[in-house]
Amino acid sequence: MDKSPVLVTGGAGFIGSNLVDLLLAHGHSVRILDNLSTGKQANLPSHPRVEFIKGDVADVQLVRRAVQGCQAVVHLAAVASVQASVEDPVGTHQSNLVGTLNICEAMREAGIRRVVFASSAAVYGNNGDGEAIDEETPKAPLTPYAADKLASEHYLDFYRRQHGLEPVVFRFFNIYGPRQDPSSPYSGVISIFTERALKRQPITVFGDGEQTRDFLYVGDLVELLGQALKQEEIDVGAINVGLNRATSLNQLLAAIGDVVGELPPVSYQAARSGDIRHSRADNARLLQRYRLPNPVTGMREGLARLLER
Ligand code: NAD
Ligand code: UD1
Repeated sequence: MDKSPVLVTGGAGFIGSNLVDLLLAHGHSVRILDNLSTGKQANLPSHPRVEFIKGDVADVQLVRRAVQGCQAVVHLAAVASVQASVEDPVGTHQSNLVGTLNICEAMREAGIRRVVFASSAAVYGNNGDGEAIDEETPKAPLTPYAADKLASEHYLDFYRRQHGLEPVVFRFFNIYGPRQDPSSPYSGVISIFTERALKRQPITVFGDGEQTRDFLYVGDLVELLGQALKQEEIDVGAINVGLNRATSLNQLLAAIGDVVGELPPVSYQAARSGDIRHSRADNARLLQRYRLPNPVTGMREGLARLLER
């Protein structure tokens, strides 16, 4: 096995730290670049094969140093909240677009080719209309978050054509599981709802609760990220990462109620601006090229594992 480290940007965050665990279990060395804006060092094991660099992907000199000697990069560092990007488009852009460009440029300089990138279903905007969305669905980024993810995809493709980078671009749908931080109102809905249900604090639904999402358990996602590092040949273009299953927030609440026992009071407020109504992945392309765990983690099992911790 190649002993040189895999660089995981955003590795102290929710998805990143779950990926670090998987890479270590597979025998890799891991270097992490994270500014700890939402991530936590406590998410990371102290392990001889883990190296942590605190810093920003918008800092080009630091990114240059961070990629030195790495075999590949998994680029996850970003402001992950759609709502935060609506409130701070300029700050978000530094992390979400400039950061990606810095990674591309530093990889080109260092001669590193493989990069796995966390794009998002947000690039499709409201084009799903309840149907499963395939990769060719017209893009309609509704928020600074979505615009930066789509622009990042285009930059990665430029570096592929021009400089031989090997980007694997995954458009994640909604990921949930352990270490998704529930403390921010901008965090993922499952982490917020489960935390509130456990603490018997009131739950707020933005909108009528009939909006739907395609939720994937983080343990299943990181298996795919691990495979993307090993693929002999990359696919040109993005790949949806979801289960092709729609769950409404009202169905989610019912499932949480079943797992926890009883729900605290639930109130309904105005929908968030820029919020997407329905989002469900057509995952045919993913299933052709990658192996989802068999069986995949179902919603009730995923919630139970999340609540175990
Ligand atoms: P997260 O907030 O837990 O992780 C993001 C990590 O990046 C954090 O550790 C944070 O401290 C770090 N970070 C942010 N800005 C940085 C910067 N400028 N420099 C260095 N580090 C920085 O969120 P997550 O859910 O684990 O998201 C990981 C990636 O997956 C993000 O790119 C996100 O946009 C993408 N994504 C997530 C989901 C989801 O449902 N969670 C869906 C689609 C895409
Ligand atoms: C999520 C991800 C984003 C990703 C996108 C891909 C997070 C924080 N966001 O965005 O990175 O690109 O999926 O599909 O991980 N809601 C409530 N009450 C709450 C919190 C949320 O009703 O307390 C609602 C929201 O208004 C929204 C739904 O729940 O309708 C899902 O919200 P959220 O978990 O933030 O996810 P997305 O906006 O889909």
